[in-house]
Amino acid sequence: MPRVVVLTGAGISAESGIPTFRDADGLWEGHRVEDVATPEGFERSPMVVHRFYDARRAALAEVEPNPAHHALAELERRLGDDLLVVTQNIDDLHERAGSTRVLHMHGELLSALCLGCGRRSRWTHDLGDLPPCPRCGSCELRPDVVWFGEIPYQMDRIQDALESADLFVSVGTSGAVYPAAGFVQYAARCGARTLELNLVPSAGTSMFHESRHGAAGVLVPEWVAELLR
Ligand code: APR
Repeated sequence: MPRVVVLTGAGISAESGIPTFRDADGLWEGHRVEDVATPEGFERSPMVVHRFYDARRAALAEVEPNPAHHALAELERRLGDDLLVVTQNIDDLHERAGSTRVLHMHGELLSALCLGCGRRSRWTHDLGDLPPCPRCGSCELRPDVVWFGEIPYQMDRIQDALESADLFVSVGTSGAVYPAAGFVQYAARCGARTLELNLVPSAGTSMFHESRHGAAGVLVPEWVAELLR
């Protein structure tokens, strides 16, 4: 069986009802990136930022994984350690579908990071009422998400996985944000075959050996079935 790295973006959760960022009605249509997704925005108006992520955390309770998440969980059951999912998403839909080998390079909504002690805690409630850190007691929790200008998580592990991958598949991402947008070139240089599964051609579509366009809920189960045939 091949060693596979799957990169996922907001498009894989769109059919579950979570808005993407850059499509019509996407999150960046209604919010300024610099207000809600930068360290400077948080310093200026922490409440605006907390309200934005608190609403998104609460909305997670209303959504379910879709066939694309389930297909990747099935693929992990078959490939085991030979599959790694690297997600830019901060939702927990991969885990709820049953995936366990998932790296959240942009952090997680269900985690809070304490600016006092630097430790993380699982977080399912609001942060806007400034609750104390369960570990050190200071009221300096922030969403444990990677904002613009910050360094994505787990880059060493991601790089190692890309270097040893036989196949790199990108699902539901516009290819607008680096470093994730550069993974396709890196994986290909290291010898992987590369495949894009996205609703429309992404910014980097020409960098893939193959691109298929359509809904993730259809394309991902089809591709998984093909791989396991
Ligand atoms: N199936 C497949 N692809 C879809 C679907 C769907 N049902 N719906 C939308 N898409 C595609 C869109 O065509 C678009 O190319 O998903 C992509 C989503 O792109 P973005 O909104 O830019 O999301 P993403 O690529 O994940 O953004 C990367 O940017 O703002 C930051 O931190 C944020 O992690 C995010 C990063």
